[in-house]
Amino acid sequence: MKLSVTFTLLAAVIPFALAQSPEWGQCGGIGWTGATTCVAGTVCTVQNAYYSQCLPGSASSAPATTPSSPSGPTSTAPPAPSGTGLNALAKVAGKLYFGTATDNGELSDTAYTAILDNNKEFGQITPANSMKWDATEPTRGTFTFSGGDQIANLAKTNGQLLRGHNCVWYNQLPSWVSNGQFTTADLTTVIQNHCSTLVSHYKGQVYSWDVVNEPFNDDGTWRQDVFYNTLGTSYVSIALKAARAADPNAKLYINDYNIEQSGAKATAMLNLVKQLIADGVPIDGVGFQCHFIVGEVPGTFQTVLEQFTALGLEVAITELDIRTTTPASQSALAQQQKDYQTVVQACMNVEKCVGVTVWDFTDKYSWVPSTFSGQGAACPWDQNLVKKPAYNGIVAALTS
Ligand code: G3I
Repeated sequence: MKLSVTFTLLAAVIPFALAQSPEWGQCGGIGWTGATTCVAGTVCTVQNAYYSQCLPGSASSAPATTPSSPSGPTSTAPPAPSGTGLNALAKVAGKLYFGTATDNGELSDTAYTAILDNNKEFGQITPANSMKWDATEPTRGTFTFSGGDQIANLAKTNGQLLRGHNCVWYNQLPSWVSNGQFTTADLTTVIQNHCSTLVSHYKGQVYSWDVVNEPFNDDGTWRQDVFYNTLGTSYVSIALKAARAADPNAKLYINDYNIEQSGAKATAMLNLVKQLIADGVPIDGVGFQCHFIVGEVPGTFQTVLEQFTALGLEVAITELDIRTTTPASQSALAQQQKDYQTVVQACMNVEKCVGVTVWDFTDKYSWVPSTFSGQGAACPWDQNLVKKPAYNGIVAALTS
């Protein structure tokens, strides 16, 4: 998309001291605070909401018009779709997106992608597996991005924001990491190289990264994994710093489950982010996974969200699903509708809750049945890609 603001207007609004970006340089996008004009012979071209670039062309000195504010529900990127649909309604309500996880194996299902690709329903997508460590660096120093690229390209094609998932997690690690006998210096290098290479590869394409995923046990103690056992808590800041250096405009998150209710685990996460902030470690947000059970949505969820935003962070619901015993009864589906409404309403009520992501939108591809025997039906669309009452619960919250 080429931009066409006249130079006269430009001179009035762009501070004179700003240098022009060189050919191929960045000239705009959410979070970009540098020059927004290009040298003669190039034109500032929006690649996506987060990255505008000076490409060879005739309309020199055109400014990027994508917003410069990196966060908050008032951001206007990507362009708001109009009409109904979860993302359209979320944006009208002042949120940044309503999104979904997806996975590469699902993308050949055309009935599925017809819904996934509709950015009135979904303005953001998260790869459920293909950016994880086992997929991206299966052997040390050898990176494979084909699966992640497929999802990233889909987001670009569809005009959807992209969430990177994830840099450092105890699960889905290749054995060279999980079984590695590392010195502290060696594992520091391993984390830095992994996070840096991964985040750099998607620089300019990712709204937010789950840099650290699930660092705590449910009792609030640190999870004993290769990272903690070798480096103690310092692995968190090592990863966050590497991610910030790799893509200064990406929002950096820590993401976990069972932190949605007041208690030891939420307190542990609060204390961690307070310490990171005090230490000057880059941290922008906390992701609440929200893998809930029908009838058991925690009553303190909104209060917990507010405890985190009070620290100056943004928050997001990153992996929402609400499971029940299968086959689901009518009464369970009715309760699930209320539960979805309650959860999304909590985000609606918290200004710095930027958006909601469901952990895939259809029961056809939910992770739940393979993990919790006899449970499922956790998503807003059923096995046959038909909307369930849960969908109406989400709509009710988004339009409240
Ligand atoms: O890639 C192999 C494939 O080669 C093999 O043929 C197949 C046979 O079962 O397994 C494939 O790996 C599976 C992988 O998903 C990719 O499909 C694993 O068995 C399976 O365990 C794995 O599950 C993923 C799970 O994370 C692993 O912990 C789910 O799809 C994914 O939705 C889930 O996502 C997590 C988030 O990352 C973090 N929060 C919790 C959430 C739900 O568990």
